[in-house]
Amino acid sequence: MAGTAAHKADICALQVPIAETQTQVGQPVALVTGASQGIGRSLAEEFAAHRHNILMVARDGERLRLVADDIRSRFDVDVHCLALDVMQPDAPNEILDYARASRLNIDTLVLNAAVWSEGTIQKLPVGTLGQVVNANIVSVCELAKAVLPSMIDRKNGDILFVGSLAGNVPSPNNAIYSATKAFLKSFALSLRAECAPDGVNVSLLTPGAVDTGFTSSGTGNRGFHDRRRRLFAATPETVAWVAYRALKSRQAIIVPSLFARTLEFGTKLLHPAAIASLRHTFARSQVSS
Ligand SMILES: NC(=O)c1ccc[n+]([C@@H]2O[C@H](COP(=O)([O-])OP(=O)(O)OC[C@H]3O[C@@H](n4cnc5c(N)ncnc54)[C@H](OP(=O)(O)O)[C@@H]3O)[C@@H](O)[C@H]2O)c1
Repeated sequence: MAGTAAHKADICALQVPIAETQTQVGQPVALVTGASQGIGRSLAEEFAAHRHNILMVARDGERLRLVADDIRSRFDVDVHCLALDVMQPDAPNEILDYARASRLNIDTLVLNAAVWSEGTIQKLPVGTLGQVVNANIVSVCELAKAVLPSMIDRKNGDILFVGSLAGNVPSPNNAIYSATKAFLKSFALSLRAECAPDGVNVSLLTPGAVDTGFTSSGTGNRGFHDRRRRLFAATPETVAWVAYRALKSRQAIIVPSLFARTLEFGTKLLHPAAIASLRHTFARSQVSS
């Protein structure tokens, strides 16, 4: 429940004595959700390598703390971490409260945390639909909405939405996840146009398969995507390397690997209904093999 003690942010940065942190009044910070592993962790490292202070968010405080310690030891930046569930309605307020209390200006927002879901819609466990929509859409848009006003006031900021190539095409057997990423694409590009006059850049990162534990973390059959992943996946480090540079050059849509770019091009040649039909056939053959 939002606001209860159980969901209060675990402010692990406070384990570092205040005097040891070099953060000064209003110091800029890159906020990365889902920063404890996978693409989010690599993005946090990439920002740290470019001397950005980091505010990391994920649910597992212990894992977050270990990653924060590792980044602190390798890069000369401040690393703050908040253990919280971005799906909680109060999460944006908790993040803003922490940033205010620590005198941090969130000048970069990386909206990376998401939930995976796979399987035909009638077989999904009860509640999955709401959970995936909440994690991948509602919490993402609410956090962007909460952070945006201060960026607009300062006439400066970068927002990176982590979408997916799955958002470009209908994905039978993966319909909800794919549809949430389609929503994000539309939302991010609309926001980009709205924010451009105020000096705030909005970019959308659309990876193809990436070698992380993501598809093992949600609901559904994991075999198909895990087999595909081994064949074609990019590393999270490569994705972060490309994404950082493209974000800084204000690219609208970032497709971070040659394989993903080839797939993206291929999907433009076919009617979406034909793609859906092909993907359905392919998914069924993979699941049954
Ligand atoms: N991997 C791929 O093949 C792939 C392809 C295209 C797009 N993407 C997108 O890339 C993004 C990251 O994926 P990934 O592969 O890096 O995933 P991952 O390795 O599973 O990492 C997910 C991160 O998000 C955190 N997280 C999950 N739910 C959260 C919640 N409710 N509140 C706060 N933090 C939460 C996790 O930590 P906790 O569990 O401790 O909270 C973890 O740090 C997602 O948006 C995904 O849709 C991934």
